[in-house]
Amino acid sequence: MEITSDFGKIPWYHFPSGVFVMKTFALIVFGCQMNVYDADRLRTQLIAEGWTETSQEDAEVLLFVTCSIREKAEQKVWSLIGRFQKKWDSQKKPYMAIVGCMAQRVGEKLMKRFPGIFMVAGPRHLGVVFSGIQKFFSQGEKSIFLDEDPRGLEDLHCPPLCRPNPWKAYITIAHGCDNFCTYCIVPYVRGRFQSREPEDILQEARSLIEQGVLEITLLGQNVNSYGTDRKDTWTFPRLLRECAALPGLRRLRFATNHPKDLSPEVISVMAEGAPVICPALNLPIQSGSDEVLKKMNRGYTVEQYASIISLLREAMPHVGITSDLIVGFPGESEEDFQSSLEVLRRFRFDLVHSAAYSPRPGTSSASMEQELSREDLFHRLHEVNSLQSKIALEKNEKLAGTLQDVLFDALAPRGENLLQGRTPTDKVVLVPGNEDFLGRFGKVRILSGEHWCLRGEVEELEPR
Ligand code: SAH
Ligand code: SF4
Ligand code: F3S
Repeated sequence: MEITSDFGKIPWYHFPSGVFVMKTFALIVFGCQMNVYDADRLRTQLIAEGWTETSQEDAEVLLFVTCSIREKAEQKVWSLIGRFQKKWDSQKKPYMAIVGCMAQRVGEKLMKRFPGIFMVAGPRHLGVVFSGIQKFFSQGEKSIFLDEDPRGLEDLHCPPLCRPNPWKAYITIAHGCDNFCTYCIVPYVRGRFQSREPEDILQEARSLIEQGVLEITLLGQNVNSYGTDRKDTWTFPRLLRECAALPGLRRLRFATNHPKDLSPEVISVMAEGAPVICPALNLPIQSGSDEVLKKMNRGYTVEQYASIISLLREAMPHVGITSDLIVGFPGESEEDFQSSLEVLRRFRFDLVHSAAYSPRPGTSSASMEQELSREDLFHRLHEVNSLQSKIALEKNEKLAGTLQDVLFDALAPRGENLLQGRTPTDKVVLVPGNEDFLGRFGKVRILSGEHWCLRGEVEELEPR
């Protein structure tokens, strides 16, 4: 049986849903792409069960998909829940469910504080979220689904068919992370590393392609470790090859890589897999100082990192490389900080996700002394951002005159009758155009580059 929704036909899944209640819901999503994938699956399940998605203000049930990576990410959720709690106090609406990483970290506290919350569920319990909702609306019972054993997994077996973007989708290939970088909360909230079954991943990809998806991004906190917990011959390079060979898939990406695990084999699979496997990757460096990298427990030195960059650029001269960088890790001296600026100049990334260090309770760096004042911390962050934006501008300006393959997938953020697309290297391209371009590939002549995007004109649009 199928139901028809705004997202097209959705197969009717058989969940142990018990009593049948249908309500309106809204998802509020924070954090990384894994949360987007989780939210897309929850949306698909709710719609398949007959629920209707609506605005945050109108919804009877709000599902928060939360993040704990920095204090600020959590503060946003505290204040938003507080705002909806006020509304709940007077109208008994909306009821709130808090899922994801922050639920795992402080879910019980949240539930005690806000009576409008009827469920908290960690990221390894998405599979029981819907039964928790049904239980509440049929029996009035609240649910707490949090990890006591970070190895347990109640996953939601449902492809992310209902997505805001019809042409692009994410697929998580492995849960959790075992790396325990000293600043990072992820291993505590997403639990132990666990590869998904390869056949489940491939089947999910096939059903997305059948639905019209053109681009898939494989996700993991460290995709390069895929398969290391299995006894068979599945590795990340093999999974990458098999996904790239799926008929109908036009673009394949993956995130994120760990410099200690990215093997030369992945680089050769990428180079051979073009044009389906996109020449783009995120390789978080986190610091330019070996001493800080050691304190972070990252498992590589700057020179080891440099040798991967050389291999990548030898194999794919135009490869797009993005990175992540933390400023102000405890004990980061002025010299360490200068080394971080130096790696930005040396590697000339296309984009850097920079962040000011935020101590996360329970991680081992949380007990290390922070000598920097908040002002110094944000001053360093500002320096990183202005240097990187200069580098990105120089790199993008150099692309003027080139012809790029672009997949158009959105209206430009500020409208202006512009369409937005991405190059294989994942650069944003803006062109004059109309909605008929959406979901199509085109050849774009680049006219100019800015620090965050390229601007151009379509020379040829692929027929649909
Ligand atoms: N698995 C990925 C990243 C996961 S978290 C990796 O290994 O790189 C995403 C990014 O958030 C990290 O790359 C890091 O730059 C940043 N981050 C994580 N913990 C942080 C903290 N405590 N303070 C500031 N930034 C942090
Ligand atoms: Fe966090 Fe490190 Fe795991 Fe990335 S690899 S999720 S930074 S512990
Ligand atoms: Fe945040 Fe959890 Fe992702 S902490 S960055 S949502 S893995």
